[in-house]
Amino acid sequence: MNAFIQGLPKVELHLHIEGSLEPELLFELAQRNNIDIPYQSPQALRKAYEFEDLQSFLDIYYQGANALITEQDFYDLTWAYLEKSKADNVIHTEIFFDPQTHTERGIHFDTVINGIYRAMEDGREKLGITSQIIACFLRHLSEQSAIETLQSILKHQDKIIGVGLDSSEQGHPPEKFKRVFQQAREAGLLTVAHAGEEGPAQNIVDAVEMLGVSRVDHGVRCVEDPQLLDALIASKMPLTVCPLSNIKLCVFDEMVQHNIADLLRKGVAVTINSDDPAYFGGYMTDNFLAVNQAHPMSKRELAQFTINAINGSFISDELKANYRAQVEMYVAKH
Ligand code: ADE
Ligand code: ZN
Repeated sequence: MNAFIQGLPKVELHLHIEGSLEPELLFELAQRNNIDIPYQSPQALRKAYEFEDLQSFLDIYYQGANALITEQDFYDLTWAYLEKSKADNVIHTEIFFDPQTHTERGIHFDTVINGIYRAMEDGREKLGITSQIIACFLRHLSEQSAIETLQSILKHQDKIIGVGLDSSEQGHPPEKFKRVFQQAREAGLLTVAHAGEEGPAQNIVDAVEMLGVSRVDHGVRCVEDPQLLDALIASKMPLTVCPLSNIKLCVFDEMVQHNIADLLRKGVAVTINSDDPAYFGGYMTDNFLAVNQAHPMSKRELAQFTINAINGSFISDELKANYRAQVEMYVAKH
């Protein structure tokens, strides 16, 4: 089954590009940009990646992002992620970035988006991976800061398909961003939001009702509200679940306790994603393998994760049909 998983075409819908910054590249960029890192080596840094909750991770993750300064840095970061994705047979990916993490420390929005976008264009041409960009608002910052960030996003709307919401869920419910999400939707952007990762099931309800999201990022706490669970199944709302992330951030103690297999079998449109692979111990294939090891699945079930991701992606119906056919052909052959 491991070989089947490795070769299975995959679609990633939940990946923070800043979370794909591997310690080796972080050290290289820090040296290039004359930035001090309080660790002796990439290995020592990696050893420090032990988290007890979302916030303990975010503190280290934002520190790591300080090494990203120039457009070339953002290009190199994105290109490295796309090469890893190619090795995992990812055919399409929708990449999050956190503009405010960079603009707050004086890096221009254009520097960030242009570096990421140039790598994505090269990924399409040289690796055959299609991609989209989603700009996320940091929920620990103010509504006003999100509204200002939206103005920059709109200047690059030719490159950005939608907006998302990430960072600390506790204490920053969807309601805080209702108005900026409405403005984004009125401007033609699609919307997604992290909800029900650490926060309660009500945040999922509110993300759907107040933010008009097309997908829920994480959403694993939906099981705490049976009515919500039924509604998610009926509406085929995609959940972008991140199994290794959920273990590293102690959302579940062990993979055997993770509810992703159960959700799939109940008919929820769950997908498998890597979230912040450089920090959580693996990319797409690693996440599939970890799920299948704890919850043995049929080939059809494993392929369903990709089918769900294709259906929930922000690509044309034509490309969706093409990608579904690619997956069906792979399953038929194996
Ligand atoms: N930013 C990067 N990864 C995140 C996660 N898993 N939850 C919330 N914000 C994030
Ligand atoms: Zn995330």
